[in-house]
Amino acid sequence: MDTIQSPIVQVIGDLIRQAPGTISLGQGVVHYGPPREAIDAARAALTEPATHEYQDGMGIPILVERLTAKLKSENGIDVSRGRRVMVTAGANMAFVHAVAAITSLGDEIILPVPFYFNHEMAIEMAGCTAVRVPTDDHYQVRLDAIAAAITPRTRAIVTISPNNPSGAVFSESSLREVNALCRDRGLYHIADEVYEYFTYGSARHVSAGSFPGADAHTISMYSLSKAYGFAGWRVGYVVYPEHLASAMMKSQDTILVCPPVISQVAAAAALGAGRAYSEPHVRELAAIRDIVLEQLAALAPLAEVPAADGAFYVLLKVNLSSRATASAERSDPMAIAERLIREHKVAVIPGPAFGMTDGCYFRVAYGALQKETVAEGIGRLVTGLRRILQ
Ligand SMILES: Cc1ncc(COP(=O)(O)O)c(C=O)c1O
Repeated sequence: MDTIQSPIVQVIGDLIRQAPGTISLGQGVVHYGPPREAIDAARAALTEPATHEYQDGMGIPILVERLTAKLKSENGIDVSRGRRVMVTAGANMAFVHAVAAITSLGDEIILPVPFYFNHEMAIEMAGCTAVRVPTDDHYQVRLDAIAAAITPRTRAIVTISPNNPSGAVFSESSLREVNALCRDRGLYHIADEVYEYFTYGSARHVSAGSFPGADAHTISMYSLSKAYGFAGWRVGYVVYPEHLASAMMKSQDTILVCPPVISQVAAAAALGAGRAYSEPHVRELAAIRDIVLEQLAALAPLAEVPAADGAFYVLLKVNLSSRATASAERSDPMAIAERLIREHKVAVIPGPAFGMTDGCYFRVAYGALQKETVAEGIGRLVTGLRRILQ
């Protein structure tokens, strides 16, 4: 555990608490809560004895049924054919189960950088190695780099699209290539699709699990946390090949027994409201994203923001080639993040948490706040970075 990174959101959260009035562009959460239907269903379930008992480890039937229908109609994934769907306590748990199911001590899992910190943490806690591979200037996966990183110990390649922390939406062709590479080399493709509904402009999300022949080696994970404002209810789900059924259930039964029943009842009702619930929120986020990109553009040439068409993040890159930022102290992302909080009352997450150790990067999250607050926060960020870096 000593060699595993500390949860950065908690670390930044502690700093924020010491600087009251700080606007947090840190944690990856949305500003809205669950649909009314979900709250009503949870309230009604309180008087049902079944709510208070252990239930099936895979998930309650009504939720599994709705997820199965959603996966088929929205993701092109047919779970009746050689696959299973399991409800988990969030997509983080789905990832932990997948790692436990497919690895032995000392195995390797390939993570394109930037990655989601909890993925690296889960891999290392399982006694495996997270192998970091670079992406291109737009944070798109590089198949050559991934292929070059494969060794006899490699068990899986992870893709996150839309991406946390970069906001990049991976192209369909690159996801197809990664999926085919996994098939050809006997690896699993772990596809994290937590932000599937959050795309902007012409960007479209595509599920790797829908590609022909993907069923036997693709593990796809989803969450209600973002789409339905459900983060505290802890509901996610994972689709995996039939041959992993026993291993996945061993992990689920040991860690969770069954997902919290009241949360599942609420989730089933949320699924009843469906994708339409998140659509107005995503449109609102699109407008906020425009403000974020426009305001951050003012930082050029000191810093730049590669195009990001999804999720609710941008990964800001400080241009270290400029003379002003060349000193080591001025380019240490954690030191800068601390100063931004202390002196400018705005919080962002430093790049090393996502594996961006070469250079100076910050993730800016704009999902949790109202438009005016985000604009104020980005204003503080621009002013703060200018003062600190110049
Ligand atoms: C890429 C990614 N995967 C998984 C998760 C975890 O989601 P959940 O709340 O469902 O555990 C997050 C949350 O921020 C995420 O960004």
